[in-house]
Amino acid sequence: MLNTASQIQQQVQLAAYNSFGVPAMAAYFADVRSLGELRRALEFARDKNLSVQILGGGTNVLFVKDYAGLICHMNIQGISHLPESGMVQASCGENWHEFVSYCMNNSLYGYENLALIPGSVGAAPIQNIGAYGVELAQFLVEIEVLDRERDAVRNFSRAECEFGYRGSVFKQQSSHRYVVLSASFKLSAHNLPNLDYQALKAALPEPGITPQQVYDTVCRIRRSRLPDPAELGNAGSFFKNPVVSRDKYDALQSEHGKVPSYATEDEHLVKIPAAWLLDRAGWKGRRRGPAGVYERHALVLVNTGEARGEDILLLAQEMSSSILSQFGIGLVPEVQLI
Ligand code: EPU
Repeated sequence: MLNTASQIQQQVQLAAYNSFGVPAMAAYFADVRSLGELRRALEFARDKNLSVQILGGGTNVLFVKDYAGLICHMNIQGISHLPESGMVQASCGENWHEFVSYCMNNSLYGYENLALIPGSVGAAPIQNIGAYGVELAQFLVEIEVLDRERDAVRNFSRAECEFGYRGSVFKQQSSHRYVVLSASFKLSAHNLPNLDYQALKAALPEPGITPQQVYDTVCRIRRSRLPDPAELGNAGSFFKNPVVSRDKYDALQSEHGKVPSYATEDEHLVKIPAAWLLDRAGWKGRRRGPAGVYERHALVLVNTGEARGEDILLLAQEMSSSILSQFGIGLVPEVQLI
């Protein structure tokens, strides 16, 4: 077992720990592999009066400047499942896509639509990851967290997590009070393909679709539309899709013709793809020095080489101001700015 002194490194370059690949220095950095290590790292930060940033896979963050506190990189590993029951538990440091593949290979179905989403299991509930008609919340049973305020481990049921579109109770608290340790899910032994998402349905043969076909098709669509962060730095969708009133949506349609939309739980509200707005405003493929917009998807900001966090942020600000002046809609980042 490592002692605290050897576990915590000083002046660590974070370029390898964020999928934008932007440089930033962490004054202190801990690669956390157990609950004990997490507790010791947090104690170290308390003693030195350092702020703490919990980091998962770094796939949904943008470091805009150096970090003067302690970065806790959550790297606790382990997956276990109870055959027959559909229950599976994964530790926070497991890679999300590898977890989805583990489920597929063990006949635990439901998350095929979330294949290839970059990031870790521990980060997935924070923003309730979702794609192709499925959200993490659908099959989640509970989350085990360390409550930093009480220094106690506790569980959050799905209801207590207050999941919403790209959000949860954990995202609302900026203080990082709760650190996700593991998540438990109940998946199905039966094939229940979710083909609500048109692009997915259109790409699959009918009938008799297998989970493996859904998984393969999602991987293929994602690879064709979204850049691989290992090749081109990016964090997927940079902004959330904005939700507007139906009146606003009707006004947009009378001005701009057919505007794509997604239904929401509230019939008075409509979700509009931010990608469509940005594309209409001419952002696809544009560059601002080393920062740019992916040429195949207007919602994906990319680091074309030597971009710093500030370069990406300035481009994002320019993009959101243009959408505000052109459509009267404010865009909110989905990516967490650190
Ligand atoms: N579109 C454009 N121009 C573009 C790209 C898309 O006009 O350059 C239009 C498309 O024609 C389509 C609409 O925008 O009508 C939606 O595009 P897409 O299907 O790519 O989905 P999205 O709304 O941009 C959301 C999630 C993605 C998720 C996909 C698939 C958000 C913010 N993004 O993207 O999640 O993979 O749906 O379910 O909710 C992520 O969160 O990082 C992410 C990639």
